Amino acid sequence: MQKALIYGAGGGGTQIYRELVAREEPYEIVAFVDRLRGGTEKEGLPVIFPNEMAAQTFDIVFVATQDNTVRDTLVREYGIPDEKINTARYWNSAEVAPRVRALEHFRELCDMYGMKGSVAEVGVFQGDFSKHINRLFPESKLYLYDTFEGFSERDKAQETPDAEVTAYTHYANTSVDLVMKKMAHPDQIVVCKGMFPETATGADDNYVFVSLDPDLYAPVLAGLEYFYPRLVHGGGYLYTTSFPTKILAFGVPSPSF
Ligand SMILES: C[S@@+](CC[C@H](N)C(=O)[O-])C[C@H]1O[C@@H](n2cnc3c(N)ncnc32)[C@H](O)[C@@H]1O
Repeated sequence: MQKALIYGAGGGGTQIYRELVAREEPYEIVAFVDRLRGGTEKEGLPVIFPNEMAAQTFDIVFVATQDNTVRDTLVREYGIPDEKINTARYWNSAEVAPRVRALEHFRELCDMYGMKGSVAEVGVFQGDFSKHINRLFPESKLYLYDTFEGFSERDKAQETPDAEVTAYTHYANTSVDLVMKKMAHPDQIVVCKGMFPETATGADDNYVFVSLDPDLYAPVLAGLEYFYPRLVHGGGYLYTTSFPTKILAFGVPSPSF
């Protein structure tokens, strides 16, 4: 049995924890690691600070956060051997995969009910979900909204003081080029770089699927206001995976189902 740490005591950490336990994988989870929640408990396990990792005996650390600078920090600052760090599990199973499965299912419904329209994502980051929207809706125009520079001060100012998300700086680590290289149907992409909703375009389109994932309250609310009236007649799916302070999740089932 390998001893495992889970880096990230938020939603991603919970997801990985549950998978490891539910699938009875050969890992004994010894602790969560979190730079903000250290000193607390989660799932009956201690949550330690990153600087306490070196004192732990472990074989593998599953990184459960979108912050792709963590690997480097763990190696350089905390002396964790690179071969003990697993970042792939989060991306492949915890973060994107459940959304992709939902989207594949929704695509089937679109075919069944003849629902067609444009698609969009607000909050693209490195395009790891956008590429699946593009792959599954090859005949649809895909509007991609992001600052490609991280959060704006204006949006952050509208969060409550306890909103940890405002501390995220890694979202600046992306570019239009990086995202475009991942797209299977680049001719369908409309890049809308800058602050949403100011960048809103495609006002005359009808949308069959929208992913609202900008993390912050202000652009999530603006996205709901902008896209809801533009969902295709008879159906459409507005989906947010963000955990901002005031809205958790929102789905719009087809009124005609
Ligand atoms: C959670 S990440 C998106 C992750 C992506 N959907 C994925 O699944 O990999 C949030 C992104 O929203 C962007 N963002 C936040 N507020 C924004 C706004 N008002 N306008 C444009 N982009 C924004 C951030 O820069 C960041 O890249």
